[in-house]
Amino acid sequence: MRTLIHLLLLAAIVPLVAVAADPAHPVDRNAEAAAVMRASFTPKGQAGMDRLHQDKTQAACSLYAPDAPPAAVAAKLLEANRAMVKFPADDKYLGDWKRGQAIAENGKGKQSSDDPSEPSGGNCYACHQLDKQQVAYGTIGPSLYHYGKQRGHSQPVLKLAWSMINDMKGYTVCSAMPRFGAKGILTEQQLKDIMALLFDPDSPVNQ
Ligand code: HEC
Repeated sequence: MRTLIHLLLLAAIVPLVAVAADPAHPVDRNAEAAAVMRASFTPKGQAGMDRLHQDKTQAACSLYAPDAPPAAVAAKLLEANRAMVKFPADDKYLGDWKRGQAIAENGKGKQSSDDPSEPSGGNCYACHQLDKQQVAYGTIGPSLYHYGKQRGHSQPVLKLAWSMINDMKGYTVCSAMPRFGAKGILTEQQLKDIMALLFDPDSPVNQ
């Protein structure tokens, strides 16, 4: 009888240990966390309950957090996100840097208190240094000062920057950077204006 109890105990413990010790299969706390958020999140204005929905990439980042998803999982998501990026039909990447600067400085959009009929901003300064004039900027992202000056304007360089601004999760799978194109935060014209801010030789970014 005692042997049987021991065996039963072992059978119950072994799978638990196996799950906890295997970093490729972390314990999924998402369901618990989602229930807590559903119970406490109050939908308001344009910020509805759909805000709690995580797409495949975000779900993988939540599942493995605080670590990054395993390389094989990440590679698939990166590739899928890059494949979704829409490039401009006219193959023109640069709009107006002055409008781009206004978009970069605008932190409005997508919040419950924002008017959804107004265009969103990019809030780039919250995370990036962009020019010399701006003294208060965030440092979550790298400095983008002299971005175009350092890289030139070749088509591959422009396409890469376009792709990253559209969806940084095609390059860093759990990037903190908003997915400006992929999630419809900025329009194609706004993205072109932001690109001009980074690449136009007259833009303060390249002075
Ligand atoms: C919440 C923070 C955040 C905001 C807001 C943000 N970014 Fe980023 N950005 C990042 C981070 C972090 C990285 C570094 C890549 C990574 O590991 O995620 C990055 C990287 C980049 C890069 C790639 C730099 C390189 O290596 O070539 C570009 C270009 C860029 N951001 C442009 C922008 C622009 C333009 C805006 C505004 C429209 C913006 N970012 C807004 C966080 C942010």
